[in-house]
Amino acid sequence: MPTVAHEFPSLRVFDHPLVQHKLTIVRDRRTSPADFRRLLNEIAGLMTYEVSRRFDTRAVAVETPLEVTEGRQLSRPVTLVPILRAGLSMTDGVMQLFPEARVGHIGIRRDEATHRPVFYYAKFPHDVRDGYAIVIDPMLATGGSACAAIRHLKDVGCRDIQMICLVAAPEGARRVHAEHPDVMVYACALDRELDANAYIRPGLGDAGDRVFGTVEG
Ligand code: PRP
Ligand code: URA
Repeated sequence: MPTVAHEFPSLRVFDHPLVQHKLTIVRDRRTSPADFRRLLNEIAGLMTYEVSRRFDTRAVAVETPLEVTEGRQLSRPVTLVPILRAGLSMTDGVMQLFPEARVGHIGIRRDEATHRPVFYYAKFPHDVRDGYAIVIDPMLATGGSACAAIRHLKDVGCRDIQMICLVAAPEGARRVHAEHPDVMVYACALDRELDANAYIRPGLGDAGDRVFGTVEG
């Protein structure tokens, strides 16, 4: 079970040993993009098990080889919403557990000077509002990108939104709770702070660059 960070009522932090083991390798600057991507997806899969714990199910009849019995199935569709680019790096891991999930993309990049989110793309399933939306982004720094994505989903009618990230800064967790107290955020770590460039410390650097091998120098 993820733990509750008391100062941050809508944040749940995964302190599971396996998650923490993998996160430590992800943080390591020497980890290659291939290993970085693989580990992010593995962690996302482990998180999905708990994130979906409160999803509604309905009774269905199932015919075993011996008799008809009652089983349960998820009663509402699930839409994964990776924030481009870095959110793509955890999406396959969630899909492994929700093979029938739909994927709605949202393009938001952080302006390097102002650190404010710049929206550039969105494409959601037409009935996204009917089910659960899981926003996916490894980094929750100022919280600007997450809040913009959640606002976008609410504007198209989504009412049941959760977010998974790898590393959260206190500033980002506070901001998401202030603007969207109904959205539960799941993270693997609540890090110390943001630095002057709004990077998470200790963090893991620029997630998008590490995933896609676009690191400069
Ligand atoms: C990163 C990250 C988040 C955002 C977090 O994306 O993946 O989307 O920054 O910062 P915030 O909480 O201060 O908004 P970035 O803008 O670098 O884009 P990229 O994924 O294309 O690299
Ligand atoms: N985006 C990242 O990729 N890393 C940070 O530390 C902050 C924003």
